[in-house]
Amino acid sequence: AEAPADWDKPLAGKVALVTGAARGIGATIAEVLSRDGAHVIAADIPAAGEALSEVANKVGGTALPLDVTAPDAGAKIAELVKSRHSGLDIVVNNAGITRDKLLANMDEGKWNSVMAVNLKAPKQLVDDLLAAGALNEGGSVVDVSSIAGIAGNRGQTNYGATKAGVIGIVDAYTPVLAEKNITINAVAPGFIETAMTAAIPLATRQAGRLMNSLQQGGQTVDVAETISYFAAPASAAVTGNVVRVCGQSLL
Ligand code: NAI
Repeated sequence: AEAPADWDKPLAGKVALVTGAARGIGATIAEVLSRDGAHVIAADIPAAGEALSEVANKVGGTALPLDVTAPDAGAKIAELVKSRHSGLDIVVNNAGITRDKLLANMDEGKWNSVMAVNLKAPKQLVDDLLAAGALNEGGSVVDVSSIAGIAGNRGQTNYGATKAGVIGIVDAYTPVLAEKNITINAVAPGFIETAMTAAIPLATRQAGRLMNSLQQGGQTVDVAETISYFAAPASAAVTGNVVRVCGQSLL
């Protein structure tokens, strides 16, 4: 791969899609990719409203209200990047949800919604973007897995299964995407302080923090910086990896 002309902006000239960008880890990914030179298309569910436009405005990017599980999600993104840009270089599949319950109470709705957002959508988006010729050669796909997909977590059978599945997708797509000189990698964050983790019971939250050797929750920027590396020319030869971002977790 060629070295970027400007080392301070390794993503200059690149167009990046970040799903789930209205808040939390996704909002910070949008900021870091933009800082590194990318034009960011910030996508989130229409209900995210103003929060999404605020992130897009802050990073000088484009707000795209979009449910990643919609059948035409990939087509909509493809249309946008082909009409306004010359395709997409970076896809960050960050949108994710939890619907935690112990297995006996895990009804089918909770199971299916988590599967749809966390597992099916990241794969479907890549398939649809490729089919539409909207994902550029030399590009990068980065999926957000979780330590819960590696080590498991009580009450998160659905969530953990999807996050383990994301690692399976990375493995399966590595040789396929390599044919187009596109890399695919995943990050597996540990406990990160966001609205998602603020919703879990205090004791579980404390346990999450203690798993981190620093004895505190991780920050969204820790995850975003790793993703920016996977999107940059510096990692052009790095594909098929899962990197834990959890502060030397004991897991
Ligand atoms: P969050 O709940 O703060 O943000 C997630 C964003 O995704 C929200 O803005 C939400 O509206 C959006 N979203 C949900 N469903 C969507 C859909 N169908 N289409 C488009 N957007 C959708 O969550 P957080 O903590 O920022 O998590 C981001 C990612 O990181 C998720 O994939 C999560 O599973 C993963 N993760 C988070 C960890 C944590 O400790 N916070 C740990 C490991 C992984």
